Amino acid sequence: MLILAIETTCDETSCSVVRDGSLILSNVVASQVDVHALFGGVVPELACRQHIDIISSVCSKALKEAGVTLNQIDLIAVAKGPGLVGALLVGINFAKGLAFSARKPLIGINHIEAHLYAAIMTCKNPSSYFPALGLVLSGGHTSMIIIDAIGSYTLIGQTVDDAIGEAFDKVAKMLELPYPGGPEIEKLAITGNPTIYPFQKSCVKGRPYDFSFSGIKTKVRYTLFGNDTKNKRDVSLPEKANIAASFQEAVFSDIVAKANLAIATYKVKGLFFGGGVTRNRQLRKLIEYSIDLPHFWPEDALCLDNAAMLAGLAFHKWQATPKNLLHTLEPETRMPF
Ligand code: KG4
Ligand code: ZN
Repeated sequence: MLILAIETTCDETSCSVVRDGSLILSNVVASQVDVHALFGGVVPELACRQHIDIISSVCSKALKEAGVTLNQIDLIAVAKGPGLVGALLVGINFAKGLAFSARKPLIGINHIEAHLYAAIMTCKNPSSYFPALGLVLSGGHTSMIIIDAIGSYTLIGQTVDDAIGEAFDKVAKMLELPYPGGPEIEKLAITGNPTIYPFQKSCVKGRPYDFSFSGIKTKVRYTLFGNDTKNKRDVSLPEKANIAASFQEAVFSDIVAKANLAIATYKVKGLFFGGGVTRNRQLRKLIEYSIDLPHFWPEDALCLDNAAMLAGLAFHKWQATPKNLLHTLEPETRMPF
């Protein structure tokens, strides 16, 4: 089954063709990072305009690179949420137009579930690790999920405020690093000492698997500027590197501690990671070192937002419920998992 997927939830325009849930024939991603970097974060109005300008050419490129025509596509999949409403509308309306004109069925996919599927997609026999613990660590989400099967999940924890990637981006801004901040913090942290600032792990009362990253963000602000945030002092590069390393250490040990608690409680057989933050090599090293169970990371091209993870997941969703949503699909900005 050949599936063409379209992704426009935030600041990447992506189209991909995948065969039978896992064979990626193309995965074209047009990043808008340069546009948003000027503003230090994603500007929704600009994101929509960029999607509109390039979605058609990104889609043509994905079909061309896959070596297939639209006629050969069996199903069109599109991210229906969560995400920025205007950005979602661009992808959904484009997908609807394409499905209507080419007489193809259309399916809507949950973007977070697709991040979770990204590592499952390239794993040889994923169901042998079910029940598994899934961790989505991205710019918009921080979720811990028990996976009983593809499509059957229990959300056990999530962030109560900022997402982990968002915390990286905000701390990077305080350290005067460019957007997106995650990779910049990772780079700077290499030269820093993670034990200099003992930032605390997050703790949400009575909810052992929930995260909170707003406290550590404030801690970093006070460490940098004290109480006087108006008259910012000059902070040396080595000091910034120590802060970056200490922040990263605190946030990642929080992930490890909660993952280990879930492993002990839910008797899972493996772990699947997804989302942009999983590109971080220090996180991968720490997990390697502190978790004994088999664990799987998405390939680099499948960590950040991309349409291949949607096209892959759509195969399983369509097998379970082959329902054409051409006339009813609407964006869901705050989809439950
Ligand atoms: O999954 P993604 O593309 O977006 C959402 O669906 O939200 O992830 C983007 C996020 C950004 O916050 C970015 O700073 C973070 O992933 N990120 C990283 C790294 N690379 C990207 N965070 C930490 N270390 C990295 N190497
Ligand atoms: Zn994402």
